[in-house]
Amino acid sequence: MSVDTAQIEKLENELSASVAAAGDLQSLDEARVQALGKKGRITDLMKQLGGMDPDARKAAGQALNALKDKIAAQIADKERSFKRAALEARLSGERVDVTLSPRPERTGRIHPISQTQEEIVSIFAAMGFTVKDGPDIEDDWHNFTALNFPPGHPAREMQDTFFLPKTEGEEERFAPKVLRTHTSPVQIRTMCNEKPPIRIVVTGRTYRSDYDMTHTPMFHQLEGLVIDTETNFAHLKGCLREFCETYFEVEDLPMRFRPSFFPFTEPSAEVDIGCSRKDGGLKIGAGDDWLEILGCGMVHPNVLRNCGIDPDIYQGFAFGMGVERIAMLKYGIPDLRSFFESDVRWLDHYGFDPLDRPNLATREG
Ligand code: PHE
Repeated sequence: MSVDTAQIEKLENELSASVAAAGDLQSLDEARVQALGKKGRITDLMKQLGGMDPDARKAAGQALNALKDKIAAQIADKERSFKRAALEARLSGERVDVTLSPRPERTGRIHPISQTQEEIVSIFAAMGFTVKDGPDIEDDWHNFTALNFPPGHPAREMQDTFFLPKTEGEEERFAPKVLRTHTSPVQIRTMCNEKPPIRIVVTGRTYRSDYDMTHTPMFHQLEGLVIDTETNFAHLKGCLREFCETYFEVEDLPMRFRPSFFPFTEPSAEVDIGCSRKDGGLKIGAGDDWLEILGCGMVHPNVLRNCGIDPDIYQGFAFGMGVERIAMLKYGIPDLRSFFESDVRWLDHYGFDPLDRPNLATREG
């Protein structure tokens, strides 16, 4: 038996054709076994070399080896392109479009406190107020002393203060540290650092040791402060009326100012808004009932003095209210404690669509 060139050429054409015809990795492997396997076509011809004379055997052997390499290279090439195509298919199949919510039915909601804070800020910003904040961990001086609470005055305990343990090297004037019981210390921080005219609002967390249907140890307040040379009580009333009517979306909202007491304002008042209670429901607006919503007053001269502002030149007003309270009133939320229970069913119900929130850009008027 012998192997001639024509035979090798013919085999090459056949094997190349079967490699080219392979449509996937499996049929390519079959083509490989058929060509290069132990019982493959090339091996078959190799076996026939034994009977040939040495020169012809050498030439045919070289030609067969060359053919073997050539077919192996074709197979490797094809295998590489199959693998690349498979990888590409997998990558495009697994591509994640990060611009789409994977579960549209589970979009997040904006907490009613955040919503209310944003509404408040946008109303006051439209009136020319600037937004300020201050630390939750305050000191006795900013939270009480500078606000004209006399030393040892029961008002300090009245607020159910959380006192922090004393630390080494604490400056006597600022000791002890407290969790701020109201946002009024931000009045002090602002007046100590800025020259009038001042027109600021603050919203933030406040803390008092209390827990029942209407009290949680952490809650939120809104604080306002205006200081200028001629700012008077009429400005205070006008400003609060504008806020309440815009926030509650009620025109000619009945409001009354009742005399009250805060150490840091004189005179001081508490403000009630009109409402009606029918069939267990509460409606803000003209009615036969009143609802207390905030405390306010003219900034006490001692407070101005404590911050280095001359009360013979400057005067102004301040107000403070509970964010939860006005959120509950506007959105009909019955229990204060539910704000902080992180129950997703509650958040689904009372939360707000993140894409549909009033802000400075969308507010009308
Ligand atoms: N800080 C007062 C409180 O927490 C509210 C208030 C603020 C009253 C500003 C008057 C002026 O009760």
